[in-house]
Amino acid sequence: MRRIWHNEHGGPSVLQVEEADVPSPADGEVLVEVEAVGVTLPGLLHLRDLPLPQRPGGELAGRIVALGPDVAGFTVGQRVTGLTMSGAMAEYAVAPAILLDVVPDGVDPAIALTIVRSGLVALAALRTANLAAGESVLVTAAAGGVGHLAVQLARALGAGRVVGTVSDPAKADFVRAQGADEVVLSNDLAGTAPVDIVIEGVGGQVLNDALDRVAPFGRLITLSAAPAHIESHTLLTGLRTVTGLSMGQIHRHRPDLIRAWRDDLWQLLATNAIHPAIAATYPLDQAAAAYDHLASRTSLGKIVLKP
Ligand SMILES: NC(=O)c1ccc[n+]([C@@H]2O[C@H](COP(=O)([O-])OP(=O)(O)OC[C@H]3O[C@@H](n4cnc5c(N)ncnc54)[C@H](OP(=O)(O)O)[C@@H]3O)[C@@H](O)[C@H]2O)c1
Repeated sequence: MRRIWHNEHGGPSVLQVEEADVPSPADGEVLVEVEAVGVTLPGLLHLRDLPLPQRPGGELAGRIVALGPDVAGFTVGQRVTGLTMSGAMAEYAVAPAILLDVVPDGVDPAIALTIVRSGLVALAALRTANLAAGESVLVTAAAGGVGHLAVQLARALGAGRVVGTVSDPAKADFVRAQGADEVVLSNDLAGTAPVDIVIEGVGGQVLNDALDRVAPFGRLITLSAAPAHIESHTLLTGLRTVTGLSMGQIHRHRPDLIRAWRDDLWQLLATNAIHPAIAATYPLDQAAAAYDHLASRTSLGKIVLKP
């Protein structure tokens, strides 16, 4: 089979295609014939810092072709989507069964993985913020994989005013089409009226500027692995709450929440309440071009590889 790997740090050009044996599923794992793999911002950033060699790809959709020992609840031939530790950018990949969900009949693999990864993060953030009907929501990086679904979900869950931020005004029409009432540049948030909830996926100065826009008793949910320093004073005088959200930790501590949110997402998809946008699909051997697209900050929705 073909797979993507890299043995030096850098930008997307470090990625290479190689021939390798099809892996065998270990205890609790399944072997998946991969139909779609997500191209993500954490994946792009990790090209520069994870121990080498690396086999990228952490979110996938495909068909089960073999079960490892001790796997219950799945059968060969089922279509599944979810997470794996690495190595999903390949024709075949192994994944822990506990991180997978069955894809409903008729759902395209790219849509399925966008729902179960980006949509899950977005819904987790809105649920963690306890969004109440009519509350205003600001979503940063609102044209991204997580961001565009956070805008759609805020609308579907009854938010009032929805604001999206982008780094480039060329993305504003796309974000409005997802349901945003306003689109603002992420480096020019000062004039934005206060909001009840911020879903923040950029980090750094954008997090601090967005936090300044949180109304009294408002909540900011921080998703980004990019660092940011938060002054306790702005929480105290602003009557603001900041909550961190790690899907890995929720998987570990509250798998029941993950299952409930996935069920909600499939239901929202089935009733056409949400419409994941696929920015582009690339073949496996163009993984570098897919990451270049993401790094250009011009993408509208989710970028996907289809082996
Ligand atoms: N906490 C968790 O468990 C968890 C899980 C998954 C994802 N996340 C986080 O959610 C955020 C969105 O992830 P994603 O995979 O949905 O991203 P994505 O689709 O890959 O979108 C990335 C968006 O991030 C913005 N961005 C900011 N810095 C960038 C950079 N250096 N290069 C390219 N784009 C950049 C871009 O919007 P603008 O150019 O408009 O700013 C772009 O639209 C990330 O911060 C990621 O770490 C967190």
